[in-house]
Amino acid sequence: MAAQNMEQLVSLCKRRGFIFPGGEIYGGLQGTYDYGPLGVELKNNLKRLWWRHNVYERDDMEGIETALLTNRYVLRYSGHEKGFSDPLVDNRTNKKRHRLDHLLRDQKPEVLAALAEAFGTQTTDPEDLVDVLLADAQKAEAALKSARVVDPSDNKVGDWTAPRQFNLMFKTQVGPVADEESFAYLRPETAQGMFVNFKNVLDSTNRKLPFGIAQMGKSFRNEITPRNFIFRVRELEQMEIEYFVRPGEDEAVHDTWIQDHVDWWVNEIGLDRAKLKLHEHPKEKLSHYSKRTVDILYDFPTLGFDELEGFANRTDFDLGSHSRANDTLGLTARVAPNEHSTEKLTYFDHAANKHIVPFVIEPAAGVDRGVLAALSEAYDEEKLENGETRVVLRLKPTLAPIKVAVLPLKKNAPEIVSLAKSVKRDLQAKADMRSIYDDTAGIGKLYRRQDEVGTPFCLTVDFQSLEDNTVTVRDRDTMGQERVAIAELTDYLRERLR
Ligand code: GAP
Repeated sequence: MAAQNMEQLVSLCKRRGFIFPGGEIYGGLQGTYDYGPLGVELKNNLKRLWWRHNVYERDDMEGIETALLTNRYVLRYSGHEKGFSDPLVDNRTNKKRHRLDHLLRDQKPEVLAALAEAFGTQTTDPEDLVDVLLADAQKAEAALKSARVVDPSDNKVGDWTAPRQFNLMFKTQVGPVADEESFAYLRPETAQGMFVNFKNVLDSTNRKLPFGIAQMGKSFRNEITPRNFIFRVRELEQMEIEYFVRPGEDEAVHDTWIQDHVDWWVNEIGLDRAKLKLHEHPKEKLSHYSKRTVDILYDFPTLGFDELEGFANRTDFDLGSHSRANDTLGLTARVAPNEHSTEKLTYFDHAANKHIVPFVIEPAAGVDRGVLAALSEAYDEEKLENGETRVVLRLKPTLAPIKVAVLPLKKNAPEIVSLAKSVKRDLQAKADMRSIYDDTAGIGKLYRRQDEVGTPFCLTVDFQSLEDNTVTVRDRDTMGQERVAIAELTDYLRERLR
């Protein structure tokens, strides 16, 4: 049984040190979260698995880590300055701000019908209505009023402003002089760092098409309404790939990546295939750079199906936009030379004997959403024979923050404690298994604690251990126990932690 609602996860994450609200002792900072002692391990394990699958296990990938502070022109020519925005509307009565599409999704059908009628349109689909309303903001203000659109934060009809587009990028001052010119953006996606380094990677590695660049790291989006725990945050982490191909080979490669990553989420992260669904973006809703976009949706608790990873066919848009010689935006004539890249982000195709601008397939996943999905899937409340309920995180061993907990049966028996500590030390130092020693409660309570954080194995050292050099190994999922010789522990555990 997976998590039934987000509250179960929020509570577990806070209680056991996975995830805390950012800046909590000062009242928090909305849309930010801090990963605690177990959260950082889980997140790093997920990222390591992604990197291994997408970089090390392939022969056509390179890794990169680019700066978070981004030259403003990178984000002008990528189209973000103009287009990276969400529709915003304010409620004058309670001063709350809403994303218009989310606000409309929360309305009753009769309210949506009244809005449609005010604009003389047939559609009552919230996404379509957003476009209709934004096309005439003044009329929209009147329609939001006459349709009696309700503010979900207080369940009262709001006094709405005209809707407008709100750019999601964070700006920050760079250097000691504060003026109009000396700002940079915090990157809103890791992708652009890979495009602007296309030539550097190509020249330094001598790659031939097709090949890709992978990057994991922080991105920043000033989301209008961050919500649903770590699902929608303002400081997020992404795992992205830009895979460069010859034009014409893009469509088949696109499908291959989608299938490969569906399998990765299932086989390596442990998500239930039945809780994953593909969503094809309608043509008229595609981002400015995309020819086709497909999302993998996951059935998150409370939220339902929502985006986990997106796969866009970005064509030659980005490399073209960042190349002065191939200005797909038609902007070069209007800007000073130093405001535009002087690089040609092209590839010399020996077979065709000419420079080409490769097409790009982009698998783009959210690390935080991956963590949330993994936690949701693993969460279980199991009824025990004695009538008690145990919370157990059935994480894949490769994802588990702690692999082995070594527990002494008696903490006031020095020989047992000493042997337990030495078993722990050896597993950590010689076998490189994240292990902990814990003697802060009785054995039953220690088992429950480790079940709750997903530790696959607990080892108990007792009086018998002192005589025959064996320990009891307890399996998190079955709660079954067996005696294993200390000399054979590493092999025994390695076999089962894969
Ligand atoms: N470079 C393409 C790109 O950034 P995106 O669909 O905007 O595409 C990719 O983002 C992934 O990043 C999403 O599928 C989602 O998992 C994650 N993501 C986006 N915005 C997020 C947010 N505010 N909070 C958490 N994760 C987010």
